Amino acid sequence: MLTEHSRTATQVCSVVAIELVPRLKILGCACDVPSHAYTYAFALNADWPQFLSGSDDIFRYLLRVVNCFGLRRFMRFNSVIERREWNDDEGQWHVDIRDALTGEIAHDTCHILIGANGLLNSWKYPAEVEGLQSFKGRLLHTARWPDNYGPEQWKNERVAVLGSGASAIQVVPTMQPHVKHMDVFVRTPVWFAQLAGHSGVNRDCKTSCIVAGLANSTC
Ligand SMILES: Cc1cc2nc3c(=O)[nH]c(=O)nc-3n(C[C@H](O)[C@H](O)[C@H](O)COP(=O)(O)OP(=O)(O)OC[C@H]3O[C@@H](n4cnc5c(N)ncnc54)[C@H](O)[C@@H]3O)c2cc1C
Ligand SMILES: NC(=O)c1ccc[n+]([C@@H]2O[C@H](COP(=O)([O-])OP(=O)(O)OC[C@H]3O[C@@H](n4cnc5c(N)ncnc54)[C@H](OP(=O)(O)O)[C@@H]3O)[C@@H](O)[C@H]2O)c1
Repeated sequence: MLTEHSRTATQVCSVVAIELVPRLKILGCACDVPSHAYTYAFALNADWPQFLSGSDDIFRYLLRVVNCFGLRRFMRFNSVIERREWNDDEGQWHVDIRDALTGEIAHDTCHILIGANGLLNSWKYPAEVEGLQSFKGRLLHTARWPDNYGPEQWKNERVAVLGSGASAIQVVPTMQPHVKHMDVFVRTPVWFAQLAGHSGVNRDCKTSCIVAGLANSTC
């Protein structure tokens, strides 16, 4: 969440990003538009390793942007906006911010409050699948993939994947080469289109990159 506010006379205008979860690991996560279109216009990047880069490379790029432009001081993690109220007389928002680690509530004000709290981070298991909650094996949702669950842990597992949406398209090819057995349950078929290269290959774009922006920086 991004807020722009003036707090005191000396701190005339500041921008604060308030975020509950600093970074979630999503299995097989990648951009599905060309990486060069996935960059800020003010921070072009000549170092994308792939035409469609994975989340680790995107995260590294964003970290470089944060470091280069000194943005970290504007970010506050593990903080939840609990309440916000517009005060017409003052012409500003009053916001209650709960520290998710200590439970402590802090109060702040701002002139502009931008809600960027997303839609997809509110997830649930499909309630209509009978027996799902009493399933004795490991039950995982792609929106909350545990950090410590990788190929080493999968290798002897029999895996059932429910669904054929964008998440299944990423999880199935990432896990399948490593697991003992996999079944994918498809209710609605999906369509695939070629995304990169003449044969759909995620081709290396290094040779055609334009050197600009971050590529010239020392960050
Ligand atoms: C399982 C899954 C896999 C995905 N994989 C991909 C992919 O591979 N490639 C891709 O391009 N897209 C992917 N997406 C879609 C992508 O995650 C979303 O489009 C994108 O994250 C939306 O960005 P956002 O900033 O709007 O919201 P979010 O990324 O959801 O960010 C909103 C943030 O606001 C925080 N927040 C919410 N309420 C509060 C509050 N009250 N106080 C403080 N903070 C709060 C949340 O914790 C969250 O960190 C995936 C989505 C899911 C669910
Ligand atoms: N690369 C990316 O950009 C990317 C990657 C991952 C996710 N995302 C985004 O994240 C969001 C969520 O994607 P998602 O794939 O996690 O979820 P989703 O798009 O909602 O897909 C859920 C899948 O589960 C199936 N399903 C649900 N309940 C079922 C049941 N009871 N029995 C059988 N099948 C069932 C659905 O089938 P039905 O279609 O029949 O309902 C669908 O195939 C989307 O907006 C997506 O675009 C983006």
